Amino acid sequence: MKTFDMIVKGGNVVTASDIFKADIGINEGIISEMGLDLGKDAAEIIDASGKYVFPGGIDPHTHMNMPFGGTFSSDDFKTGTIAAACGGTTSIVDFSIQAKGKSLKQTINTWREKADGKAVIDYGIHIALTELNEEVMNEIPKVIADGYQSFKMYMTYDGMRVDDGTLLRTLIKVNESGGLCCVHAENYYVIEYLKNKFLSEGKIEPIYHALSRPDLAEGEAAGRAIKLAKIANAPLYIVHNSCEASISEIAKAREEGYPIMGETCPQYLLLSEDNYREPNFNGAKYVMSPPLRDKKNWPVVWKAIKDNTLQVVATDHCPFFMSQKEMGKDSFASIPNGAPGIEARMALMYTYGVTSGEIDLNRFVQVTSTNAAKIYGMYPQKGTIAVGSDADLVVFDPNIETTLTKSMLHENVDYTPYEGFKLKGYPTVTISRGNVIARDGQFVGEEGRGKFIKRTSPQII
Ligand code: URP
Ligand code: ZN
Repeated sequence: MKTFDMIVKGGNVVTASDIFKADIGINEGIISEMGLDLGKDAAEIIDASGKYVFPGGIDPHTHMNMPFGGTFSSDDFKTGTIAAACGGTTSIVDFSIQAKGKSLKQTINTWREKADGKAVIDYGIHIALTELNEEVMNEIPKVIADGYQSFKMYMTYDGMRVDDGTLLRTLIKVNESGGLCCVHAENYYVIEYLKNKFLSEGKIEPIYHALSRPDLAEGEAAGRAIKLAKIANAPLYIVHNSCEASISEIAKAREEGYPIMGETCPQYLLLSEDNYREPNFNGAKYVMSPPLRDKKNWPVVWKAIKDNTLQVVATDHCPFFMSQKEMGKDSFASIPNGAPGIEARMALMYTYGVTSGEIDLNRFVQVTSTNAAKIYGMYPQKGTIAVGSDADLVVFDPNIETTLTKSMLHENVDYTPYEGFKLKGYPTVTISRGNVIARDGQFVGEEGRGKFIKRTSPQII
């Protein structure tokens, strides 16, 4: 009988607060010991010398097999989590969408059927609430107690958006019940007006997706949601902030002491509105909401990550094949919204965040893992490297130099928005609860091994 099931040996361990050289001893999927030299009495030894060991990435904003605009996002829980694993992400939180007329229990069951037995990494599930009636209101405390701690409301999109009254009542009820509300903040009426105006003028190309969703429409909705959260005396998390207009609203509320938090995504740091002008309908690749913005927003978003105005870098991973995007050949408004990103997130944030000097290693760990674990009720089971935590680890080689291209990725889609991006640093081993599930960018785990994460109350950070 060996002392350890696995030792991750000789790496530079990076947590949200420290960097130190240590061996990590793992038993039954849990970190059982850490020390300068744990010897070699283990069933499996992972050599991490010369490499970093980070907590496994957590992506709290994904859409696997999600219905949108008459089609479904092309990654399911199997393919999407394989891609996540290959890119160093060991947990996701995916959005279950409440279909009209369905209870929260039915919504959850639908998503558990999509995920259980398919996901290869651990997963939590948010509820995207689209309809609030007496029955749904009464279900909220129960589903939160069952580990579905977070509720998102869309302020735009026909068929999914909620009105301000629903937002307010949900903020109050979810907070009372120990959960957290999130919003997708965009002003529905502004978008409807501009969309119809452009289409009536024959302006159908992908660039009009961006022009019909101006940054002020995002800022207005973010500011309104924040005011409703203040009135509700509730915390709020704003997903995928793309621009100064929304970030400045969060910054102001936080300065005033309100528990408002937020995320951004790599696309809002590395891609811009110019991408929509690529020829031959290529601009459709980037049709997502909020849209990519003018580059002048990039430094504002980086600053917000640095100064903790934003706590999380997620992906909003929601891929569609170009054949699906072609539904919008004759109207930008019919292009399914969303783009892939789950596999490249860790490497992009390391290259363009850490090596370019925007953030240090501890901040990298905070925004790619620890903060999502804290906010979404998974900490310290997830999001850190400590005795007693799940052995979810990424061995990351800072010296690998490569160029991102679709063929190296496992996302079930025919492009990456980051084609041609240079990378310095890439995950070499991904470990989930003590099992090596990806090595050198290839999946080596088992389908269906992922477990549902029952999440607890949010930490406000
Ligand atoms: O464009 C996006 N973000 N697609 C996914 C749906 C959503 O807005 O969350
Ligand atoms: Zn989303």
